[in-house]
Amino acid sequence: MDYCFSNLAEASLIPSAVNQLTADFAEDFREGIDINLGVGYVNDKTIPLDAINQAYTDIVSQPVRYRSALNYGGAEGSVNLRKSIKDYYLRYNIGGLTEKDFENRKILIGANGATSILNALSDTLKPGLVITADPYYYIYTETLERKGFRIVAIPEDNEGLNVHVLNETLQGINPREISFFYIVTVNNPSTVILSNSRRKAIVEIAAEISLKAGRIVPVVFDKAYEDIIHNPGTEKPVSGLKYGKTGHVFEIGTLSKVFAPALRIGYIICPDNDFAKVLTQWTSDIGFSSPLINQEIAGWLLDHTIHQQKEKVNKGYREKAAFIKKLFAKHLGDYLESYSGGDAAFYFYLTFKNIRTDKGSKFFNFLSRITGVPEVDGAGEKKPRLIYIPGTICSKNEKAKYQLRLSYGFEEPEVFKRAVKLMAEACEYAGCC
Ligand SMILES: Cc1ncc(COP(=O)(O)O)c(C=O)c1O
Repeated sequence: MDYCFSNLAEASLIPSAVNQLTADFAEDFREGIDINLGVGYVNDKTIPLDAINQAYTDIVSQPVRYRSALNYGGAEGSVNLRKSIKDYYLRYNIGGLTEKDFENRKILIGANGATSILNALSDTLKPGLVITADPYYYIYTETLERKGFRIVAIPEDNEGLNVHVLNETLQGINPREISFFYIVTVNNPSTVILSNSRRKAIVEIAAEISLKAGRIVPVVFDKAYEDIIHNPGTEKPVSGLKYGKTGHVFEIGTLSKVFAPALRIGYIICPDNDFAKVLTQWTSDIGFSSPLINQEIAGWLLDHTIHQQKEKVNKGYREKAAFIKKLFAKHLGDYLESYSGGDAAFYFYLTFKNIRTDKGSKFFNFLSRITGVPEVDGAGEKKPRLIYIPGTICSKNEKAKYQLRLSYGFEEPEVFKRAVKLMAEACEYAGCC
């Protein structure tokens, strides 16, 4: 007898491309030999262990200020944390937001990081077309597709989503079919930083679409990596909230990248209307709230350490990026057409001249040690393997077959030396036979 599965459950029976890839690899991953540059983990060294320890001690010893911190929390999120987030914005002029911008808006804390807020949005808005940049944040687009949304991916250039292509594409689309715009401001996988003029243009285009559709077509800015823009020469980001009507523009942030993913603290700045009510109910339904103690710790960290923490984290990623760029120049120079990354977050997105990187390609098989050639794979014990995210997972572009994402968050520079050399060997193998 079969279960009577929902459509979502039926769609979830097929593991996503990334899950499949990592499952293949995780089974027999050898620590210190194999290299995983596929996962988006932060660097363990950036996690402020002592401060978290101190925060915990402080919180449990102040039961008046931090009421019942180890009990259930409210679905909107801790009052302390929401205040700390707002203070952080105002103190450091984040996104240029002022007290006025927070009027008629709410800060809500997700049940489990920004991911849970993104998931909540996909249950809040009726399925339709989602406009996003190409390459896209594959983890979320896969969720959306499973829930019946269709992705319209607009190629990006070095300023982010290309608005000329967007305008052209929109001419062939019925505005009523569009569900929302999902815009990652420091894109994952490419780490291209969306310029302020593009933010403004996208909000204006969405406002026109809303008029034509006769309802709000919201723009959701996901600024997951904006706290870790580490090139000081970069244009200071202006929040998309500055460019549109309160009800039309949303901003999602996370403390995963700058403090610790395991805190699972993500937030949304959204209009204080029915939308906020729906999101709050959603959080309550799936687990009442994000763990209250984690929320209080996150608020404490924002109040006490954000400035030093950002400096430390960004210095680390900046240095690492510079080191890896040198390795690319030395070992991959001839094979690469171009790459993006190195200014923000911890990904590089590489485009090879004529080496295919997709699953089943010679390059991929070499690095997975599944060529079937014993001298390449290793006779008996497999030679070191390397995992990356193939471009075909995050892009519909023709070029995707020659692209890949590498994450430099977790692994140390020494490991990158090995990794880039392995990639050069894989290029040689793929190019020669
Ligand atoms: C673009 C983007 N949004 C959201 C997230 C998830 O953030 P969180 O850890 O808060 O769930 C990630 C994590 O990698 C991301 O890359």
